[in-house]
Amino acid sequence: MSSKVIIIDYGSQVTQLIARRVREAGVYSEIHSCITTAAQVKAMQPDAIILSGGPASVGEADAPHLDKGFLELGVPVLGICYGMQLLANTLGGELAQSETREYGPADLCFSKPCPLWEGLDAAKPSRVWMSHGDKVMTPPPGFAITASTATLQVAAMADEARKIYAVQFHPEVHHSADGVAMLHNFLFRIANITPDWTMSSFVDRVVKEMAEQVGPEQHVVCALSGGIDSTVVAVLLHKAIGKRLHCIFVDNGLLRMNEGTEVVNYLREHFDLNLNFVQAQRRFLDKLAGIEDPEKKRKIIGHTFIDIFDEEAKKLPDVAWLAQGTLYPDVIESISHKGPSAVIKSHHNVGGLPDTMNLKLIEPLRELFKDEVRKVAAELGMPDSIVWRHPFPGPGLAIRVLGEITAVRLDILRRADKIVQEELKESGWYRKVWQGFAVLLPIKTVGVMGDGRTYDHVIALRIVDSVDAMTADWSRLPYDVLERISSRIINEVKGVNRVAYDISSKPPSTIEWE
Ligand code: XMP
Repeated sequence: MSSKVIIIDYGSQVTQLIARRVREAGVYSEIHSCITTAAQVKAMQPDAIILSGGPASVGEADAPHLDKGFLELGVPVLGICYGMQLLANTLGGELAQSETREYGPADLCFSKPCPLWEGLDAAKPSRVWMSHGDKVMTPPPGFAITASTATLQVAAMADEARKIYAVQFHPEVHHSADGVAMLHNFLFRIANITPDWTMSSFVDRVVKEMAEQVGPEQHVVCALSGGIDSTVVAVLLHKAIGKRLHCIFVDNGLLRMNEGTEVVNYLREHFDLNLNFVQAQRRFLDKLAGIEDPEKKRKIIGHTFIDIFDEEAKKLPDVAWLAQGTLYPDVIESISHKGPSAVIKSHHNVGGLPDTMNLKLIEPLRELFKDEVRKVAAELGMPDSIVWRHPFPGPGLAIRVLGEITAVRLDILRRADKIVQEELKESGWYRKVWQGFAVLLPIKTVGVMGDGRTYDHVIALRIVDSVDAMTADWSRLPYDVLERISSRIINEVKGVNRVAYDISSKPPSTIEWE
């Protein structure tokens, strides 16, 4: 059986980072809501438990509690921030409530040797990142203070006999200089875990599991979108069940230049699978004629997609399963509704696939973060152009042609967007940014070309940095890259005489313009 760390989520914004750090160390980790009981956690057979931070104050009436049973499972426990305060409070320590939060960097001084600090220079303070209100004044019986800062006497504490460790700071965030080393110490020195979470072990396992889950006779249908997630799902399923997988790719006429054909060609060349490439450009464009409202566009596209998918799926042999590229962050968000982690995300998957079809869901990527999907894709031998492809919205270019969608306006946008992609790749920026694309604005502006006055379209460039699309900032591209993009668009795309760069962050703006 493979190693596993269970993270109990008390609502911190950075709980996901703990899971990522643990996985980056080669150890599988899962996040569970803080209402998960010790009995449930025991059934998961964890090798260690990490209690996350959280916004509550242990004294508050409805603050989440610690199930003491976690401490009796015989596995090491690490409490972080609120997790530390819970440990202190539950085990008989003393806490002080505070009106103000300590937020930002602090210098941690090691006051006692501790396996968490192994390999670190005990004489040198370690820069850590704090974000807390309450603090532990006296550790519970059996605990020793293992580190302090100028303002916090109990910055870390440990009960080595029971293998319970706690830190007030956040070792999982990048700004804690030795955070990764401390987490490694917890996993490998304290919990003696063997790192066995690799993408090739993942591929072997899910392929085997899916083959069993689907059974020897049943068929699966999978909607391809042109993005990496659904492509990886299709390849994994093809490995598991071969020709009993049926892929449907609907070209809605709102794709980037060559985007659909590239994935379809790749799959056709490398895998002997059933793939139906449905040409439905006209049908979508007809339905979208005259529509300007973005939400109406989304609805029309969603409904038309479902109708077509339904029609095509009905032509298949008896299909029992629908494959989807759901990722771990979506799974956590649906879990968190039960706990205090108020993660807000307007989620827009191709989603809402026909309930009426009565299909069971198969979601092979539901354990993975986006960067892990990329690793799986690389492991499966997919080309870089698919592995590193930027996320692309389901409604496609329809929400990047502001205002009315026509074949002509789509064509202008597609040509401009192609230049953005080419120049980002050429300059080496494509892989550094989260998303980069062109938007066609619904206005015209005056320009001068040669001896004549022009009155033409404006293209906005939207290029952003992000880790999960929930927040984003505009990418600080070098001026020469921006200049090349701008002059190429104006020179090469007929009908455009101006290019603007969007310098808004999300929030308050969004990544897409519609
Ligand atoms: P926003 O614009 O909400 O975008 O900041 C966040 C991320 O979601 C993508 N996006 C969509 N994806 N259907 C999708 O499948 C949609 O309607 C949609 N709208 C936005 C966007 O590209 C970004 O990655």
